[in-house]
Amino acid sequence: MSPDTPAMDAYWMPFTANRQFKKAPRLLTRADGMYFTDDKGRQVLDGIAGLWCVNAGHNRPRIVQAIQQQAAELDFAPPFQMGHPKAFELAERLTRIMPAGLNKVFYTNSGSESVDTALKMAIAYHRARGEGTRTRLIGRERGYHGVNFGGISVGGIVANRKMFGTMLGGVDHIRHTHDPARNAFSVGQPVHGAEFADDLEKLVALHDASTIAAVIVEPVAGSTGVLIPPQGYLQRLREICDKHGILLIFDEVITGFGRTGSPFAAQTFGVTPDLMTVAKGLTNGCVPMGAVFAAAKIHDAFMNGPEHLIEFFHGYTYSAHPLACAAALGTLDTYAEEGLLTRAAEMQGYFAECLHSLRGEPNVIDVRNIGLVGGVELAPIAGEPGKRAFNVFLDCWDQGALIRTTGDTIALSPPLIIERAQIDQLIDTLRGALKRAA
Ligand SMILES: Cc1ncc(COP(=O)(O)O)c(C=O)c1O
Repeated sequence: MSPDTPAMDAYWMPFTANRQFKKAPRLLTRADGMYFTDDKGRQVLDGIAGLWCVNAGHNRPRIVQAIQQQAAELDFAPPFQMGHPKAFELAERLTRIMPAGLNKVFYTNSGSESVDTALKMAIAYHRARGEGTRTRLIGRERGYHGVNFGGISVGGIVANRKMFGTMLGGVDHIRHTHDPARNAFSVGQPVHGAEFADDLEKLVALHDASTIAAVIVEPVAGSTGVLIPPQGYLQRLREICDKHGILLIFDEVITGFGRTGSPFAAQTFGVTPDLMTVAKGLTNGCVPMGAVFAAAKIHDAFMNGPEHLIEFFHGYTYSAHPLACAAALGTLDTYAEEGLLTRAAEMQGYFAECLHSLRGEPNVIDVRNIGLVGGVELAPIAGEPGKRAFNVFLDCWDQGALIRTTGDTIALSPPLIIERAQIDQLIDTLRGALKRAA
């Protein structure tokens, strides 16, 4: 450890193997474009856009300037019963890229808060329309919807749930769509599995539609190991929701802002939800911010009663924070000027070719991709799940590339500015690490 390494006792790190980390810290000190710099001055290729959020790459001048200027001009404005111009400007700008049918924006500060906000909106919407029995929330196995109690209740990753008691009541789950026996090494959307959506019909038969408020899914499940929706699956989910008056929520916290080749995965897959959660790429990760996009019918259901009364009792001190709004506007400018919201569609062919060339490397049991998202699943070491992928992660870091692992799946989600040579560097580094981990 270098003499400059800070004392590490006090900081309890999130989603981190704290003891392992503190024995061999991985410290980032600067970032620019596609690269981080670490505390030893090494350049590290960012293979995961920070944490699926730095979609325009690091240190982008428009965003940096927007934040600096905003801090000097209006550092804070209370969001309850007050407003500031950029909050409105940003919402209008967002409606230009949102899927047709969604046109209201409610601000939060993270993906987790967006999810809890959307779940509350769904339940409150039905109540506002006089269908107050619709309170049940349906999630999906292996889903990740952040770490708040609503999100882990509808989520389906056991490690995120098992330590936290009973969570929300009245929640049920449909099955996940991962089906390696039929779909391993699919390029893009797998062919098999639209029928997994029929699980929702089974839950309707079990609970009755009159008790169900909403179903929430990630169009592409990221944190659980990059699960791409089978062809026709999201369409079928939409049809079943429509048939039974159930709201469909897409959690686009990682798929939003260009990741799959369109501004949102809803557009890539041609399915529009009633509510959509976003965060991360909204500000290019520079200032925490999330949002819920809502269909007008949902917003409008609340807009009755005396006009001086608050319609929706929900919000955060930092909703529409001026620095976040400024960062988001700078981010949208950057995306627009550089065509980044559709760049994944241009790059995905080359990315897929390189990624799938890992088939045949030691222990690789599946490769999955869509847009600029890649998943490489490894056979676990017997009795030590997750260890093989973690070893690959550490090796890649030593070799100058940042990747991410979840269980024994390696996830890649590079900034959307990535060039072919950097895709080569990322895949070559990963290939070397896979060979060494054999
Ligand atoms: C699909 C999805 N939803 C919600 C979240 C939670 O976002 P945050 O960490 O900003 O609370 C994440 C984070 O990775 C996510 O992938």
